[in-house]
Amino acid sequence: MPGTCVIGLQWGDEAKGKLVDILTANHDIVVRYQGGANAGHTVVIGAETYKLHHIPSGILNDGAVNLVCPGVVLNPPTILQEIHGLQDRGIVFTDRLMISDRTHVVFPWHLEEDRVLNDRPVNGENIGTTLRGIGPCYRDKVGRSFAVRLGDMYRPDFAEKVQRIVEAKERILTGFAGPDGFSPLNADQIVQDYQGYAEELKPYVADTTSYLLDAVEQDRRILYEGAQGALLDLDHGTYPFVTSSNSSGVGVSPGSGIAGRWINCVLGVVKSYSTRVGGGPFPTELDDAMGDRIRELGNEYGTTTGRPRRCGWFDAVAVRYTTRLSGVDALSVMMLDVLSQLPEIKICVAYELDGERIDYVPSHSDDLRRVQPVYETIQGWEQDVTGIRALEDLPAGARGYLDRVSELIQRPVAVVSVGPDREQTMFTPEFPLGD
Ligand code: GDP
Ligand code: IMO
Ligand code: MG
Repeated sequence: MPGTCVIGLQWGDEAKGKLVDILTANHDIVVRYQGGANAGHTVVIGAETYKLHHIPSGILNDGAVNLVCPGVVLNPPTILQEIHGLQDRGIVFTDRLMISDRTHVVFPWHLEEDRVLNDRPVNGENIGTTLRGIGPCYRDKVGRSFAVRLGDMYRPDFAEKVQRIVEAKERILTGFAGPDGFSPLNADQIVQDYQGYAEELKPYVADTTSYLLDAVEQDRRILYEGAQGALLDLDHGTYPFVTSSNSSGVGVSPGSGIAGRWINCVLGVVKSYSTRVGGGPFPTELDDAMGDRIRELGNEYGTTTGRPRRCGWFDAVAVRYTTRLSGVDALSVMMLDVLSQLPEIKICVAYELDGERIDYVPSHSDDLRRVQPVYETIQGWEQDVTGIRALEDLPAGARGYLDRVSELIQRPVAVVSVGPDREQTMFTPEFPLGD
C-alpha cells in the first residue's frame, strides 16, 4: 500500500511542487486533495518553468495519472487556462488527468465575496487572501444551500440553481459590501459561461474516489500533493490567518477519500528559512534589511499573486509542531542555497511569552503575535552550493545546519534542495521515497 504525502510545514510555498515532480517518477498516481487556485506550485525542468494551480505537479512526467479529488475547490476558467497552457507547450495528458465530479465550483460571486470582505480586519489585521474565492466557496460547501459541485453542472436544473443562488447572493453581497457596492452578477451570462466550461472539462470529469479506492487495493503507488502549508491549516494553523481547508497532513484523508491507514510515508517540506504571504503572526519575521536580503536571494514573490513574501529565520518551534501534527516521517529541506551568502544564520529554538520560555505554538493569534523568538546563531558557510550534487560535498557549515534542524525537529532529513531545477536535489541513501 505505498502512499506517500508531501506536506508543507510552514506557511506555504516550501517548494512542494518541485518535490512532487521529482517523486512522481516513483509513483503511478498523483493526487491534489485540498485548496484550489490559491496554490501556485512551480516546477522547473531545464529552461522550462511551469506554474500549476489546480493540476497536480505530477503532470509533467509521462505515465503518472493525476487526480483532482473532492476536497479541492475548482475554478473552471483557471483550470482550463492551465490545461490549455500545458497543451500549448506540448504536454499530452488527456488520459492522465481526472477531475472529481464532487469538487466544489468557484463562481464569480465567490470572487466578489472574497474581494468585498478582504479589507475588513479580523483580529486586528487583514487576512490578505489570494482573492481566488477560496473561503467563500468552502463556506458554501459547508453551508450546502448555495453550493454547486462539478457534477451539478451537467444536470438539467443547473440554470435554475444558478438563478436561485444569484438572487440570494445579490442580497448577501449588498449586506456585505455596504455603500462601496459590488460588481453585478448576470445569472444568464454565468450559466452560459459555465456550461461552456463544463463542456470543455467533460473529458476529464470522473469518479476519482472509486478510482483511488481501486488503486489502493491494487497496490498502486500513490503520491498525495498538499497545497498551502500546515500553519495555514483551518483547524490547527494560526487561525484566523489561515486558509479554508486542512492543509496539514490531517487533511489528506477527508480531501482524497483515502483512509490514513493506507498512507505509509509523510514527507514534510520546509524552506531553510521562513516566509509568509498575507497577514497574521510570524514570530521570526525580519522586518529589516536582512528580511529584504533573504527576499531577494530567494526571489520570494508569490507564484499566484506576485505579492512580496514576508521573510524570516527558520522557526523550529512552529515546524516541530506541524511535523507532529502532520505525522511526518522525514524532512525535505529546500532553498539551502539561499542562505549561502549569509555570514550568520539564526534558528528560533523556543519562544518567550510574558517572560516565560515556551516550546509550543499558542492557539490564539494575539498570543502568537506577542511571543519573542529565542534564537541560536549558527556560523554561515558563505560558499555557493547550487552546483553540489552529493550531500557529503556540502560545506561542513551547511551540513551542520541541516543536522541542527534535524535534531530540533527530531526527524531525519531525507531530501536537500540547492536550487529550483530537478537536478539540484539530493537524497539521503537510507530513506525510501516511494520505491
Ligand atoms: P510551492 O507552492 O510549495 O510549490 O512553492 P512555490 O512554487 O510557490 O515556491 C517555491 C519557489 O522556489 C519556486 O519559484 C521554485 O522554483 C523555487 N525553488 C524550489 N526549490 C528551490 C531551491 O532549492 N532553491 C531556490 N533558490 N529556489 C527553489
Ligand atoms: P501554495 O500551495 C502561500 C495564504 C494567503 C492568505 C491565506 C488565506 O502555493 O503553498 P486564501 O486565498 O487561501 O483564502 O488565503 O493563505 N495562502 C498561501 N500562502 N502559499 C499558498 O499556496 C497559499 N494559499 C493561500 O496568502 O494569507
Ligand atoms: Mg506556492
